[in-house]
Amino acid sequence: MQRTLLSIILALAALTAGAKNILVNTPNTTLLLTAEQGKTVYVQYYGDRIEDASQVKNAQIGRTPAYPCFGYGKDFFNSFALSVVHSDGDLGTDLCYVGDTYNEKDGIHDWVITTKDSKHNFEVDLCYRTYDNCDVMEMWTVIRNGEKKPVTLEKFASAALPFRQGDVWVSHIHGKWATEGYLTEEPLNKGVFEVSDIACPKNAFLNRPNIMLSLDGKPSENSGRTVGAVLCWSGNFKMTVNTNFEKYHYLVCGINETGSRYTLGKGESFTTPALAMVYSNEGKGGVSRNYHRWARLDGKIHNGQALRKTLLNSWEGVYLNVSQDGMEKMMDGVQALGGELFVMDDGWFGGKYKRSVDNCALGDWVTDREKLPDGVPSLQKAAEERGLKWGIWIEPEMTNTLSELYEKHPDWVISNPGRDVVCGRGGTQLILDMSNPAVQDFVFKVVDDIMTETPETYYIKWDCNMEVYSVGSSYLSADKQSHLYVDYHRGLIKTLERIRAKYPDLVIQNCASGGGRINYGLMPYFDEFWTSDNTDAEQRLFIQWGTSMFFPTCAMAQHVSASPNHQTGRELPLKFRFDVAMTGRLGMEMKPSDLNEEEFKFAKNAFSTYKEIRPIVQQGDLYRILSPYEDNGFASEIIVAEDKSQAVFFAYKFRQYAKQQDWPIFRFDGLDPDAKYTLTELNRVESPEAWEGKTFTGRFLMNTGLELKLKGVYSSCVIRCTRQ
Ligand code: GLA
Repeated sequence: MQRTLLSIILALAALTAGAKNILVNTPNTTLLLTAEQGKTVYVQYYGDRIEDASQVKNAQIGRTPAYPCFGYGKDFFNSFALSVVHSDGDLGTDLCYVGDTYNEKDGIHDWVITTKDSKHNFEVDLCYRTYDNCDVMEMWTVIRNGEKKPVTLEKFASAALPFRQGDVWVSHIHGKWATEGYLTEEPLNKGVFEVSDIACPKNAFLNRPNIMLSLDGKPSENSGRTVGAVLCWSGNFKMTVNTNFEKYHYLVCGINETGSRYTLGKGESFTTPALAMVYSNEGKGGVSRNYHRWARLDGKIHNGQALRKTLLNSWEGVYLNVSQDGMEKMMDGVQALGGELFVMDDGWFGGKYKRSVDNCALGDWVTDREKLPDGVPSLQKAAEERGLKWGIWIEPEMTNTLSELYEKHPDWVISNPGRDVVCGRGGTQLILDMSNPAVQDFVFKVVDDIMTETPETYYIKWDCNMEVYSVGSSYLSADKQSHLYVDYHRGLIKTLERIRAKYPDLVIQNCASGGGRINYGLMPYFDEFWTSDNTDAEQRLFIQWGTSMFFPTCAMAQHVSASPNHQTGRELPLKFRFDVAMTGRLGMEMKPSDLNEEEFKFAKNAFSTYKEIRPIVQQGDLYRILSPYEDNGFASEIIVAEDKSQAVFFAYKFRQYAKQQDWPIFRFDGLDPDAKYTLTELNRVESPEAWEGKTFTGRFLMNTGLELKLKGVYSSCVIRCTRQ
């Protein structure tokens, strides 16, 4: 009798052992995977957190492969994440579950599910990481070649996920020089939707490696199930959603395989970049806030919790006409305004070739003594004497045909072998081959030399103004030419890691002709990014709105520049320019001496106001409210301190229509509904409105809102809310 019972129990155990559920949890979301010895690992659910798998199972929810592979079985047909040519030429891969592990340390949870091909000695680990402080789930794979000879990876995405078909929309970010970060939203129809980029190293120039899917129809800022997908990679990428007559929209994201076939020798492995997923019931805003928190708190932006200093950058003030006197005058200006940091931009260097035109000297990082006879350390001292920190511009991954570096190392540039070099900016710019360890050492040394010559350097603006136009590496062997795109970025990351190990506190800005390289592959090494070379405040409303979909305010460099604006010629009031710049890391990009007395007074006051609200603006939660993309000529947002004790609300009117305009009531968001807040207008130039100094409940401000007397086009209003 006992034996019969035991055998029944064992038989049942064997049956149920067949269906192991792996719940990958964030505080509020769950990814449910099912794994069975010797079989494919499946994704069965991604959504609100569940504590066990039974609801999903009982609801008969279907499943799709967690990491679909090309060439064997019925599952790969829809889309696949991995395609391998095995050592014997076999194109099929059939990954079967072998085992899994789970570890937790300091609020970080890691799951590794190991799979192995049913025929070859070829393994893939499916890796998942979550955090206690946000609902971000990272997914990536480690691909291992245990075969006797090399295998070739033809496609090697980071992850694949299904979303049930319906009225699903995609939001994506795109642009080009001076129009980066534009948001486009469209429904997902049958066919393949793709955002991709091949502009290595400026991988976020045209399209960015981040999208959102709104699962409940037209995207909304604060409601509806919404999913975010962010590829943490600084090289070429591809994100596709395949929609056909199956049940699912099928998302596959990873490194762009074009020109990037990768060979793995016996015993070698390949780690794909993380795909960071968010699921939220609070619309696009909920997804954004999770990414922002993850960026600030989980090291996805370097030093994410540190307050960023206000600065003056010399570029639009003097362009390449750098001089000792000119720099010191600008320092005087920013000191008088109450700024904290001065950054000398392009134009300060060059030996044989002088950087007075943008067609030479990149790579020759020696001070141009004709322009700066006393050298860079003396400028740092001049800044220090004025109570300012010191920063400097470099573009270390680049050179020009007109440079001593290129004359010495023509083989260090990326170029298609046997053909003429194809140059970028100035008709002479070229990219150094970061796959080459000698180039990595050189780039490290560029930073190290600056820090050795001027150890007090506080800030570096690291620029990158070119894409690859001619693919080829004289460092990589003929059979590894297709490794260049991947190895460039691995070499860059390796170099940045060395720099960070030696200079953890150096503030580094990521710039690539503006926002050409805003991605979470690089941001763990950079404190901020130059959001765009376009400093026109009206255009910035669109650029900053789109960029904020995935990136936090503390990382967004936003500078007040001259009027008329140098990129668009538009004239804008100084108040509007400040009010737009103050939603991120405030700076200036003009000669302060070009401000008249009244403007100077306003700017000085705005700098001091900004320093007061800085902790809220840089570390608070962003709620976007009125979108500039809605085309009614208004925009508004509010940034709320984590404990909801303080908030700063921003509203803008940037268009004037001939007929009566639809005039919104300005509703707030993110406040504590039961708390009372006193309102104070900041940067005020008109007489106070009726609500000035008055107290309202959060509920009233959020549900009813305020009438704002925004007078005329390019008027704006900034309101501080203080909880009583
Ligand atoms: C790029 C940057 C600018 C400036 C110039 C200097 O275009 O985006 O901000 O630094 O280079 O050449």
